Amino acid sequence: MEDVISGESCRNLGRALCIITGASKGYGRTLAFQLSCLLKPGSVLLLVARTADQLNEVKEDIVTLYGGQNKLDVRCVQADLEKTEGMEKTLQAAKETLSSEMEHLLLINNAASLGDVSRFAQTFTDPEEVNRYLSLNVSGALSLTAGVLQAFPRRLGLRRTVVNISSLCALKPFPSWVLYCTGKAARDMMFRVLAEEEPDVRVLSYAPGPLDTDMQLQARRFSGDLTLRRAFCSMCSEGQLLSCRESGAKLMKLLLDDDFPSGAHLDFYEL
Ligand SMILES: NC(=O)c1ccc[n+]([C@@H]2O[C@H](COP(=O)([O-])OP(=O)(O)OC[C@H]3O[C@@H](n4cnc5c(N)ncnc54)[C@H](OP(=O)(O)O)[C@@H]3O)[C@@H](O)[C@H]2O)c1
Repeated sequence: MEDVISGESCRNLGRALCIITGASKGYGRTLAFQLSCLLKPGSVLLLVARTADQLNEVKEDIVTLYGGQNKLDVRCVQADLEKTEGMEKTLQAAKETLSSEMEHLLLINNAASLGDVSRFAQTFTDPEEVNRYLSLNVSGALSLTAGVLQAFPRRLGLRRTVVNISSLCALKPFPSWVLYCTGKAARDMMFRVLAEEEPDVRVLSYAPGPLDTDMQLQARRFSGDLTLRRAFCSMCSEGQLLSCRESGAKLMKLLLDDDFPSGAHLDFYEL
């Protein structure tokens, strides 16, 4: 069960607008469940991704579990965050929830893509291909965060938290993963700058560890670097992948404790 976070039953994240990008499957889906039971009545959960059917399924499951009990308003936004229109649609949906009673704005920048990991850096001669990758994974995350922070400016009684779902790849080069590593490194720095500029905003880059999701499957199937591909395959066969639930529980604890240094990169394995 993704919904139960042991030992955290009496703490909560307040009456919140919580936006989760990439909530249709994988880690984002689990985070949506885990956050749902930590939000106070009157909260809004905005689930964003491209696949409407999967988003609606997540919404229905959450509403069945928590909707009545804590009056959680769950809304789906079908949007492609690689595109400006997708970003604007998400922002518009967030603005529609504006309320002076909201105590917490929580944005989880989780959506990401692995990019083409079958090729090595020197094959990326087409700037359009690189730009498309960066559009979702870097520009989109910055623009959405900026738009949301502008729409919900600093005010007394409003806590603002921005999470960047990061990776070890933000810090360590992985051969044949040039797009992904570049994107994650750039995102970490973006959010570090944000933390310097906006001391009232709580900013966290959280590296969730290797998760058993579709993205891992892609890594095992397509990584061009054979040593890396074998390492991913043996992690899987030896049961070393983390469940989204286990990793998400540590993130929930970080958010509840709220004592991380703003802008920090924190890794599942270091907590
Ligand atoms: N899996 C791992 O081992 C691992 C390790 C470290 C960090 N991470 C990070 O954890 C986060 C979640 O990864 P995951 O493993 O859950 O990946 P995943 O299973 O591939 O899920 C990715 C999510 O992002 C959404 N998404 C992809 N492209 C999008 C777009 N253009 N517009 C809007 N939404 C889009 C997908 O939904 P739609 O397809 O419906 O749009 C999906 O909900 C990512 O930031 C990833 O980099 C993962």
